[in-house]
Amino acid sequence: MERKTTRISPDDIAGQRAYCAEIKELNARFDRAPLAYVDTYGCQQNEADSERIRGYLAEMGYAFTQDESEAAVIVINTCAIREHAEQRVLGNVGALTHTKRKNPNQIICLCGCMAQEPHVAEKLRQSFRHVDLVFGPHALWRFPEFLWRIQTRRGRIFETADDPGSIAEGIPVVRQNGIKAWVSIMYGCNNFCSYCIVPYVRGRERSRSPEAILAEVKELAAAGYRDITLLGQNVNSYGRDLEEDIDFADLLKRVNAVPGDFLIRFMTSHPKDAGEKLFDAMASCERVAPVIHLPFQAGNNRVLEAMNRRYTREAYLEKVRALRSRIPDIVLTSDVIVGFPGETTEEFEDTLKVLEEVRFDALFTFIYSPREGTPAARMPDPMSKEEKSANFQRLVDLQNAISLEKHQAYVGKVLRCLVDGEGEDPRNNLTARTAGNRLVHFTGDKALIGAYTDLKITGCSTWALFGEVVE
Ligand code: 5AD
Ligand code: SF4
Repeated sequence: MERKTTRISPDDIAGQRAYCAEIKELNARFDRAPLAYVDTYGCQQNEADSERIRGYLAEMGYAFTQDESEAAVIVINTCAIREHAEQRVLGNVGALTHTKRKNPNQIICLCGCMAQEPHVAEKLRQSFRHVDLVFGPHALWRFPEFLWRIQTRRGRIFETADDPGSIAEGIPVVRQNGIKAWVSIMYGCNNFCSYCIVPYVRGRERSRSPEAILAEVKELAAAGYRDITLLGQNVNSYGRDLEEDIDFADLLKRVNAVPGDFLIRFMTSHPKDAGEKLFDAMASCERVAPVIHLPFQAGNNRVLEAMNRRYTREAYLEKVRALRSRIPDIVLTSDVIVGFPGETTEEFEDTLKVLEEVRFDALFTFIYSPREGTPAARMPDPMSKEEKSANFQRLVDLQNAISLEKHQAYVGKVLRCLVDGEGEDPRNNLTARTAGNRLVHFTGDKALIGAYTDLKITGCSTWALFGEVVE
């Protein structure tokens, strides 16, 4: 599909950075830097967007806090994927009336996918009058301008118009730590799975140029980042909108050639677009971690068709076989939806059969949640909540048993792991990740954080491995 993507010009981004400078001047009147609070819901793409919001805020002279009550600016970056996430956001945003009452100058912003849903924007306009600024993902690059307008004039701003989407390079970034980094390689989704809101709120698929991606990866590698995840709603359609003849497998090879001591991960892959070329590239690129998140959603062909997934159960299983023939110890994770409208318990049992056949290392399981404006929300949905919950429990129980068995197979092995932070359990003060991204708890010197180290796996649970440093 040939399409020209709107690219935000360097001049436009420079204009936004000029607004940052103006706000910084306003902020200079305080004795110490005013504080900003950024809260992120949902997927890694949102985490990556929040890193840009923080980048802009830092350039405006804000420091950061985890306490809403002391913040001069609050930004809530929201997720629309399921009802539950939305309710949580609305509850938490509602509670901010209290912080605003104590501090009437506080500026409250809501951005991300919920802002892009017309019914949510309307609700915020009518019933959440303490929220000053609402903007969707398409308008994120203009955040400094919005904040400046709020600070210098009265009134609220709603920038939530529908848009096929654009690409903005050169927005400053404040990353969460110096070890792991997200790199967006594309935005949006063209797949329109019938249950999913993402294509409506994040616009059409558009790819960043390989040059921009490689420049970012080189910078990260040079700065000592150890774990780089390439992000997109469907990374396997990378490059389709670019003039250059390049696909995701080609991009992986180019990223793999960047010098440095780091592993490359990517997500998410749509099974219909993940094929032998990608699997060959994964097998041949030494930095690409032996792990793939390959959501199958349902195991029954009628349900897959109603979901508009455009693959069959057989085609999915064949891909898994092709992958394992090249990378036998690949770590496989997936997403599953239970209770899609019209799915019977018999059809759901086909999902259990896929679990038994593939034996995923981990599974992200969801009960179907109707999203306004999507085709599935208009489909008859006769199954009771109780029956859906019972099926959900069967799925979780089966996967837990498989996850535990998979983890037990690690016990006794020595694995090179990346120490990524401090753990919450005082008996195991550090956490690490295997190349396949399994979590390992262990005890060691804090100085190890950010380094690769060999860990001997000594035990496990359903959720994690336990290990010790190999001296
Ligand atoms: N209801 C439940 N789960 C959903 N997902 C996407 N949309 C919905 C929905 N309406 C799940 C899919 C997707 C993951 C990110 O969220 O499994 O892969
Ligand atoms: Fe949603 Fe399907 Fe696109 Fe994933 S591929 S974001 S599930 S529409």
